[in-house]
Amino acid sequence: MGRSGIINPVNTEKITLIATLTAGLESTVKYELRQLGFEKVRASEGKVEFEGTWADIPKANLWLRCADRVLLKVGAFTATTFDDLFEQTKALPWEAIIPADAEFPVIGKAVKSTLGSVRACQSIVKKAVVERLKEAYQIDWFAETGQRYTIQIDMRKDVATLTIDTSGSGLHKRGYRTAAGEAPLKETMAAALVSLSFWRPDRYLLDPMCGAGTILIEAAMIGRRIAPGLNRSFAAEKWPVVPAELWTQARREARAAIDLTTPLSLHGSDIDPDVIEIAKANAANVGVADDIEFSVKDIKDLWIDRQYGIVITNPPYGMRLSDFQELNQMYISLHKTFRKKKGWSFYALTADRVFPNYFKRARPDRVRKLYNGSVEVNYYQYYGERPPKDE
Ligand SMILES: C[S@@+](CC[C@H](N)C(=O)[O-])C[C@H]1O[C@@H](n2cnc3c(N)ncnc32)[C@H](O)[C@@H]1O
Repeated sequence: MGRSGIINPVNTEKITLIATLTAGLESTVKYELRQLGFEKVRASEGKVEFEGTWADIPKANLWLRCADRVLLKVGAFTATTFDDLFEQTKALPWEAIIPADAEFPVIGKAVKSTLGSVRACQSIVKKAVVERLKEAYQIDWFAETGQRYTIQIDMRKDVATLTIDTSGSGLHKRGYRTAAGEAPLKETMAAALVSLSFWRPDRYLLDPMCGAGTILIEAAMIGRRIAPGLNRSFAAEKWPVVPAELWTQARREARAAIDLTTPLSLHGSDIDPDVIEIAKANAANVGVADDIEFSVKDIKDLWIDRQYGIVITNPPYGMRLSDFQELNQMYISLHKTFRKKKGWSFYALTADRVFPNYFKRARPDRVRKLYNGSVEVNYYQYYGERPPKDE
């Protein structure tokens, strides 16, 4: 990065980006980044770091389905005193990214570090950046009326990583979910559930407790190659350091990538007629209304007459005893429907640890610990046989 104010960035200049994510999805996001063609992709707890160019800020924001945000890494160093933190923060080339009129709030977190006070770290970083920008722009006071550059200090085991958020709202905000039922899944988590399953666009997919339809809509977007960020804006969209042409070009490429021809077989049902209307409206917002068949159905009435399908679902989970009894009955219904279905793979995300005691088709082939918001959940995976080649 240049050192004296914002210059026209050279598009081949290397920058380091960080995709943040929900714990447990490190390998999923790493795989996504590799599929997008990124190199030097390194996963660690809660994030994946990767190398790119300025043009990759639009690309990563538009295309990442399972990550929470894309951060621009400005620097990382060891700091065990506030003086260390101040001097090393001030030594970074903030003016190469942040213009004189920018709004630049500082947020932070600290884990297992000598400098454990997040508030103190934030305030030192703010002071250091202000000092740096004062010298660079030869001004004494910043009105902060321009575009937002949210700086984050992540103190982990005495290493400070300083970043600027390029996404703005979290990447789960795709813009299509104008309404939701009770306990909707985050779109990023729904995409991850699909990505962690055996589903491919040519396979039959069913969510029999589909709520607002998030899992099926994310599958449709994968099947149609619709970039999840195509219908929203991002914090870095008006940054001079990421020229508008880069965004226009990334959006143009994303629109050209949409596949309108692959046939999809996506099916959702729910006991609640209101939520099915919401699911239909959400699917229409993305342009995949014709790709998903939604119906109102109690899982007790589910009738499956085909082989080799895939279920990905997120049953409700309650806290009262009566709820648990009702839930157990639901798991038994699912078990009865799927126990002898040839070639069906079954995936369920739930916080309810007794699920496998009632859905007894077999022991789960894999149980993956994930987080739905702050709630620890398990993704129970039961693998069915793969369909013969000509199915
Ligand atoms: C946790 S929510 C699913 C949320 C969904 N994944 C989404 O993102 O919107 C569970 C859903 O199960 C539905 N449900 C509850 N009992 C049901 C039953 N017996 N048959 C079918 N659906 C049921 C609820 O109406 C609710 O929409």
